[in-house]
Amino acid sequence: MKEISLHILDLAQNSIRAGAGNVLIRIEEDSAADTFSVSLTDDGCGMGAEMAKSVQNPFVTTRTTRKVGLGIPLFKAGCENCAGTFTLESELGRGTRIAGTYQRSHIDRPPLGNIADTIAMLIAANPKLHLRYEHKLNGEEYALDTAEIQEILGEVPLDTPEVTAFIAEFIHSNESELESTEVQKS
Ligand SMILES: Nc1ncnc2c1ncn2[C@@H]1O[C@H](COP(=O)(O)OP(=O)(O)OP(=O)(O)O)[C@@H](O)[C@H]1O
Ligand SMILES: [Mg+2]
Repeated sequence: MKEISLHILDLAQNSIRAGAGNVLIRIEEDSAADTFSVSLTDDGCGMGAEMAKSVQNPFVTTRTTRKVGLGIPLFKAGCENCAGTFTLESELGRGTRIAGTYQRSHIDRPPLGNIADTIAMLIAANPKLHLRYEHKLNGEEYALDTAEIQEILGEVPLDTPEVTAFIAEFIHSNESELESTEVQKS
């Protein structure tokens, strides 16, 4: 069972390989509706309609190192196996939006996993990328935005080790706080 943060890592790497300058990663959980939704929106090279359709099956890739692309099909199958849905919208030259929803309480729904280190690592490996991460749980929400952090940092690059550690800790503590709001209300 693959953690959701590992799917997010895979999908964000697709966006980066597609030359995206801006990537939005959003998680939205609703305990009343029993949904756990993940979406990634990028302004990378996009895909034509035929490509967008074919990448949803596991034998299509533009990689040269390996013959099968599995990132998208595995994410899609994971959602659909948890009574969820998957959508891919893409426009050549404009960008791509991939969204998947799981039934939140589904026995096979993977845990989110270590999203703090995942996001921190993505930023450290791509310090020029504008990445925004948002997580909403019922009425509560927080975000981490590299543009806001960069403004505070000035000349200091986003791949400075202390900055990476700060980002991981920021997300980690905000995730804990989000979780605690649900425990309090239930
Ligand atoms: N955000 C995106 N923008 C543009 N093209 C994309 C995007 N995501 C995926 N693609 C295209 O879809 C193909 C399939 O993606 P997928 O993640 O399923 O496999 P992969 O990245 O090729 O290999 P793997 O993820 O298994 O390492 C990619 O090779 C790429 O051509
Ligand atoms: Mg991939």
